Formats: sequence, structure tokens, C-alpha cells
Amino acid sequence: MSRMTLTRYLIEQQRENDNIPSDLRLLIEGVARACKEIGHHVGQGALGGVLGSNETENVQGETQKKLDVISNEIMLEANEWGGHLAALASEEMELIHPIPDRYPRGKYLLLFDPLDGSSNIDVNVSIGTIFSVLECPDAGPPTEATFMQAGHRQVAAGYALYGPQITLVLTFGNGVQAFTLDRETFSFVLTNERMQIPEATAEFAINMSNQRHWQPPVQRYIDELIAGKTGPRHKDYNMRWVGSMVTDVHRILTRGGVFLYPFDTRDATKPGKLRLMYEANPMAFLVEQAGGEAIDGKVRILDIQPSQLHQRVPVMLGSKEEVERLKSYHA
Ligand code: AHG
Ligand code: MN
Ligand code: MN
Repeated sequence: MSRMTLTRYLIEQQRENDNIPSDLRLLIEGVARACKEIGHHVGQGALGGVLGSNETENVQGETQKKLDVISNEIMLEANEWGGHLAALASEEMELIHPIPDRYPRGKYLLLFDPLDGSSNIDVNVSIGTIFSVLECPDAGPPTEATFMQAGHRQVAAGYALYGPQITLVLTFGNGVQAFTLDRETFSFVLTNERMQIPEATAEFAINMSNQRHWQPPVQRYIDELIAGKTGPRHKDYNMRWVGSMVTDVHRILTRGGVFLYPFDTRDATKPGKLRLMYEANPMAFLVEQAGGEAIDGKVRILDIQPSQLHQRVPVMLGSKEEVERLKSYHA
């Protein structure tokens, strides 16, 4: 059988299930092209002069790495001319980016984290790009308010992972599909048609250095995991923390586990580190579509009504059994 490329997969899905309108397909193909280009620059590393930082800070007050800026520009340039978008928003831009007048305006909104895991760029550890697609409800020019839609209204979401392989993982609300980049033909080929998170797990991901700042429910939950076989969970757990959410979530989609970046007491202005609109929401959509759950402690991430483009949220996601337990500890 010939290989199932991304283009063919999306066209056949539309034919069979009528769930991927052609302009949404073309939009996603544009995103995939941008991810290939970002992946190329990532792979160049020191040879491409892409390592290190700029002098600039983004709206989050974080120093921008060169690749944060390069990736943001690639995402903008690859997606603004296609005619499928009304506006874009990014971790690296304070304000939304309406489609310039010289291009036709489409009916979708694209949000993205152009380069996730920035602290891993210079040390050659896996990083990624995360994206989320919403519909633009009104015909007029979009504003920031147009983006303020809960995550359950996403029509597509996904990420590209730049690791030993370049993987594109997607959902349109009908399961989760993974495509691997064939570096010879430079096309994405379907390699997993239905990613499914195992319900139970013995692996967790959290930045343990923040332990003293956590709230009691998370303290209790992690204490019980660490207690292992002789503790209340009666089994030994293993820990992994890559520091690139894309990579940690990809591991969970592949072999299960739970990921936490909880609320902590370090900084009253930051109720969590991760951003709702372009990190938590797309990942929560993927995780739920793969049979897992995603909460902020008490509430389903996808039901949170956003009030700000760059708002932060505590995140707990992954295997159902673990997330359910976390929810009960927070109740
Ligand atoms: P970004 O590089 O887009 O700012 O995101 C980094 C995020 C996420 O990818 C990761 O899970 C987390 O920050 C790591 O945070 P710590 O360095 O606090 O562990
Ligand atoms: Mn990120
Ligand atoms: Mn980022």
C-alpha cells in the first residue's frame, strides 16, 4: 500500500467523515509546512547561527531565544497569506496579529507557541511547536475579545515535536493522529492513526524543585507516588521531566503518565506557569481525544472561559486514573 501522507489523510477524512472542511485542511497544511521549516532551522543548530538569545523580552518578561523569534516569524509568514485566517496570536507577540489588508481574510483564528521548551534549544534536547485553531465567530475585524473562547470550541489542535524524529500530532476532535516526517521526501506520513493514553500508569512528570511552593493536594499526591510500593498506592512510580511540555506530553500520549505544572505560591501574579490559550488548551484537547483528562486541579481545562490572551493556568493532564485522583484531592 502506498504511504498515507498528511494531504491524502486529510482529504480522505473529509470524504469519509465530512469533518475537515477544505479551508481548515489547507490551514493545517500551512501550519505543517511552517513546522517543517522550523524543524529545519532547529536541526541546523550552531551551523545555522540559531542558538543563543536575543536582547529582547517577550510579553511574559522572558528573554527571547533567537529560535523563539525565528519560529514566530516562520509561523506568521507561512500562515498569513493563505486566506483561511482572520487573525493569529502567539506567545511571542503581546497583541493579536490581524491578517494584513493585502490578503483575503478567512474564518479561522490560529494561536501558537512557536517554540516550546526554549531552555532546551541550546543543549540539543527535544523542543516543539504547539498550535490551536478556533473559529472566528463574527464577520468584522477580529479583536482580542474574538479569541476569548473556551478550549472546547477548538476545531483543531496539535504540535510538532523536533526530536530524534520530527513528529506532527493532530486532532480535529475525532481521535489523535501522529505523522512522522520522512526526511527524504520531506512529507509527513501517517504513523499512528489513533493514539490512546493507557488509563493507568506508573510514571509522573513534575518539576520537583518547586515542591516547597505547592499546595496541599499536590503535596499529598506526589508524596504518595514517591512512597512507592510500601505507600498508599502500593506500587513504585518513575519520574521524568524534560522541561519541554511538547516532549513530556508526547511521552504521555505514547506510553501513559501524568504531567503537572500546578499552581504554586512563588509569584501571586502567576497562577501557574503554562499559558491557557496556546499551551494548555491544545494539549488538553489532544489528551482528551486520546482518552485522558486535563484539569487545573478542580476544573476541566477545556471549560475555562479565558479573559486574557496570555493568561496562565495550573495544568494536570494525562492518564484518567491519575487525573481523577488529583481532582478528588482538590475537591
Ligand atoms: P516555553 O519554552 O514556550 O516558554 O515553555 C516552557 C514551558 C514548558 O514547555 C515546560 O513544561 C515548562 O515551561 C518548564 O518549566 P520549568 O523550567 O519551570 O521546569
Ligand atoms: Mn511553551
Ligand atoms: Mn515558547
